Amino acid sequence: MELKWRNNLNQANEKKRKLQNETGVHSSFSKEKAPSTRSINRRYFLRGIGAFAASVLTFRAEGASEAGRRGKTGLASVTVDKITQSKFTLPDAILKGKLSLEEAILSRRSRRKFSSKPITLSQLSQLLWSAQGVTGEEQGIKLRTAPSAGALYPIDIYVVLPTRVYHYQPHIHALERITEDDKRTGLAIAALAQEFIAAASVNLVITAEYERSMIKYERRGVRYSIIEAGNISQNIYLQAEVLGLSTVAVGAFDDGRVQKALKLPKRHRPLLIMPVGYSL
Ligand SMILES: Cc1cc2nc3c(=O)[nH]c(=O)nc-3n(C[C@H](O)[C@H](O)[C@H](O)COP(=O)(O)O)c2cc1C
Repeated sequence: MELKWRNNLNQANEKKRKLQNETGVHSSFSKEKAPSTRSINRRYFLRGIGAFAASVLTFRAEGASEAGRRGKTGLASVTVDKITQSKFTLPDAILKGKLSLEEAILSRRSRRKFSSKPITLSQLSQLLWSAQGVTGEEQGIKLRTAPSAGALYPIDIYVVLPTRVYHYQPHIHALERITEDDKRTGLAIAALAQEFIAAASVNLVITAEYERSMIKYERRGVRYSIIEAGNISQNIYLQAEVLGLSTVAVGAFDDGRVQKALKLPKRHRPLLIMPVGYSL
């Protein structure tokens, strides 16, 4: 039994190592890298083209984007350290990964040693989709990847990039800029000097506006919001694993300092910080 478990773990780790060596792992617009997309169905391919076109238009509308000029495959593989646009649509998520769910669960670990290699816009898109992407609709309510008590969705995700801080907008799978500079060091200091936060390519900050859940559940809405943040965190862990990336849930920080460093709205209370990047 023990031996079987170890063999499985070794196989999963071997797969993950291969993934880490790849570049542009999730270029949804590259034919060579999209057999999985085709195998799902043609609809996703067309949606990918649509999202790509929308993204290019947004990048171009903003003028100075080298990313937009580089064309199709360039957009998904643009690294997050180059992103400064005020608002843009993310590439569509890819719905077939390179690890099975079981392999991802088996090999998931908290990892804190990040290299300076930036992740791509496509990888960031995938992480945000796994966290809070819209995956359905019932009675006019857009449903997301993670469960939410009463489908009230009290969680927001802020994306701390080397260049800027953005707010994720699940309904349109887009990012909107909220600050103009690199806040990673400020965030690391607010998190009791956990230095790996400043080294990570991206930090996803999960915040809750309890009032959205309390409208229905009163005080219990606080509990439900915190549970929901845990669900989201696990999705990010597993998605990072599938992408060959590392992450860790960080709960040790000064709430007020995080809010101040990132200029968060007062009602958006930070619950978890998830630094993500390549391992050293
Ligand atoms: C709510 C929560 C808060 C955490 N806070 C921190 C933290 O502030 N810093 C840190 O390095 N790890 C933090 N962790 C990660 C745990 O240390 C880690 O999950 C634990 O050591 C088990 O290791 P594993 O995740 O690799 O299985 C936190 C985990 C959770 C669930």
